[in-house]
Amino acid sequence: MSNKLQIGLFGFGCVGQGLYDVLSKSSGFRADISKICVKQQSKKRPIDAKYFTYDRFEILDNPEINVIVELIDDANEAYKIVKYALEKGKHVVTANKKMVANHLKELVELQHKYNVSLLYEASSCGSIPIVRTLEEYYDNELLFSVSGIFNGTSNYILTKTIFENLSYAAALKQAQDLGFAETDPTNDVEGFDAKYKAIILAAHAFGLFVQPEKVFNFGISTLSEWDVTYAKEKGLKIKLIPTIKKHDDGSVSVFVAPQFVNSANYLFNVENEFNGVIVEGAFSDKQFLSGKGAGGHPTGSAVLSDISALSYGYKYEYKKYKQNDNVKFNNDVLVKVYLRYEDDNFIKQLKFEEIYVKHTSDRFKYVIGQLPIGELAKYQDYIKEHKLFVSLTKESPITPITKKEGKLAEKELVHAGKA
Ligand code: HSE
Repeated sequence: MSNKLQIGLFGFGCVGQGLYDVLSKSSGFRADISKICVKQQSKKRPIDAKYFTYDRFEILDNPEINVIVELIDDANEAYKIVKYALEKGKHVVTANKKMVANHLKELVELQHKYNVSLLYEASSCGSIPIVRTLEEYYDNELLFSVSGIFNGTSNYILTKTIFENLSYAAALKQAQDLGFAETDPTNDVEGFDAKYKAIILAAHAFGLFVQPEKVFNFGISTLSEWDVTYAKEKGLKIKLIPTIKKHDDGSVSVFVAPQFVNSANYLFNVENEFNGVIVEGAFSDKQFLSGKGAGGHPTGSAVLSDISALSYGYKYEYKKYKQNDNVKFNNDVLVKVYLRYEDDNFIKQLKFEEIYVKHTSDRFKYVIGQLPIGELAKYQDYIKEHKLFVSLTKESPITPITKKEGKLAEKELVHAGKA
């Protein structure tokens, strides 16, 4: 890498402008943005027009430009740009989690083939330096799990609707105005965005490469006042939590689902657009990292750090994958869930292994039980369509009972409780 980094930037939205600000205010290393490629010609830009181009090849084929920074939100276009750039021998920094998660295996191969570096710290958990921490700091730690809050928008909505009595639509609008939300916010509230980030972190924590369509994600869009009441009465909060977990047989599970957390959980006080990551390992035990997970400047700071890392020739080595390139993905896991439902026949269809509580009141019905997560995934469309809500209840104060007792409980615990 030559002394001076000449950057070709793709995208000048929230993160692109954030990076521009961060770069102009930071001192210490030499990097210039030579050109910025944007899509909309008519849009008024806050900096001199001479910086902009609408032709991607003006940047991609410019031999003076040695670093491509890709910050657009269209994952397919981003993939084309990144692939072309790597094949041209340019280093790339990207924040596009969907693109990275969808093509990670190929992107790793392209880095080797063309001897270039692709860095994506900004793709996962905004300002929290989690990719490099997993890759470098925990390279020899025997990690058990990585979990947390990986999506700022959904966490912002949960905070504002539950504690500030804002409507769901108003909270989402605020998250959009503040530049936290994806162009299609379904990605945020249905857990897709958190899933892409979890897939990226699974590669660095465990050497697992898994395609997004295999990973189950449940979201918060059907959360109702009843679920909130249930949580509040029990002193719990609801958070959207991706879990990456290694099992005794070496396989690794990845899934995203809402979860009730109690005040002892590190994530309990992570609010608004903040993210939090809990890393558990054999030697380090439990560690917690927290910071802003969305927004121009926090994300721009992660991009800046990657550009800086390129200046000293940094590359991900995918160390956990090198240690074991045969890690199996496992989505055959049992989860303990709270499921708010309407139709008893639906509950009968679901293959619960155990049922602990069945609650019926004139306002709403819920069941708490244990079942394979794949069983829930089969009915994901039904759950969304009927505005039911599912949340993991690992920490809710219930006493597990046996399968046999569960059958009894099904009958006995149907009560008009006050939840
Ligand atoms: N929409 C994402 C979020 C942006 O809310 O977390 C940061 O990746």
